[in-house]
Amino acid sequence: MFRSVHYFGMTGVEKTPRGRSEPLLPSKFRCVVTTPSYNTSDLRSFFDQCALTGCSEQHGHPQRLLDYRLALLRSLARPRPTDVVLDIGCGTGHHLLGLGPEVARGIGIDISPGMIELARVRLRSSPWRAKLTFEVDDAEGLQKIANRSIDLAICIGAFEHMVDKRAVLSSIYRVLKCSGRFFCLTPNADYVWYRPIAPLLGFATKHLSSDRRLTYDEFAALLGETGFGRTRSAPWKFIPRGDMPVVLASLLNVFDAMGRLARLDSLRGGLSVCAWKQATALRN
Ligand SMILES: C[S@@+](CC[C@H](N)C(=O)[O-])C[C@H]1O[C@@H](n2cnc3c(N)ncnc32)[C@H](O)[C@@H]1O
Repeated sequence: MFRSVHYFGMTGVEKTPRGRSEPLLPSKFRCVVTTPSYNTSDLRSFFDQCALTGCSEQHGHPQRLLDYRLALLRSLARPRPTDVVLDIGCGTGHHLLGLGPEVARGIGIDISPGMIELARVRLRSSPWRAKLTFEVDDAEGLQKIANRSIDLAICIGAFEHMVDKRAVLSSIYRVLKCSGRFFCLTPNADYVWYRPIAPLLGFATKHLSSDRRLTYDEFAALLGETGFGRTRSAPWKFIPRGDMPVVLASLLNVFDAMGRLARLDSLRGGLSVCAWKQATALRN
């Protein structure tokens, strides 16, 4: 849902609004421009701006990608008809709106009022509007969500942008019921595109300078420190094709197929993580 930029033969260095120097690629191709960001206020402004420009999907056919992510969610997190689901960093709400018929209640939160406004507009024409709500809230505190009130927390394409990941996981842990689960779809920090290919070719991969992708080991360690009992991960097909020339996206498509066959996770761009709060959690 990001704006990638086409540069035609630009070279040199551009000054950002805060005076920092950003390299410009000597490229004729589509590439990412990294926006400086230091805190959640910067994130809010960035995503409010995205909301103003419509948030179109950049990485492929929007409905096919949505269906694929919902299928992953269904098979790996198994939403139940009795579940209260919290979508963290819900954006325009399309995952929660897609899950509407399958769950008891859904709450979407996002730090960007612009995104929440778009989600509420979509909700008005949804047959599931009576059981879904969208609220502005910060994942680092989840102030509007009561302790132990959520069966399934999901976070899709958003965790990599969240600044204080430890605070986010602690808040998720607090709001989950015992035996509740957390499901996350995020880019894989070990992906060959992120390291080494993009750095070698001089392509930026962060939309915000504060973005931080995790490896599964880093993610599992943070989840363990937060108190989650059991975690499981699986790779999924994510090719950030909106951020690169078509020829590279085609190559990464081949890598993905090879990675799936040879079970080489570094050839696959997506990391899915599911974590369970213990049935007998002592705190929160
Ligand atoms: C790339 S969008 C993804 C939106 C949606 N999950 C989707 O897949 O379409 C990332 C979203 O995370 C939200 N976000 C980032 N940091 C957040 C935070 N600390 N608390 C709540 N939302 C946050 C942004 O405002 C943005 O809407």
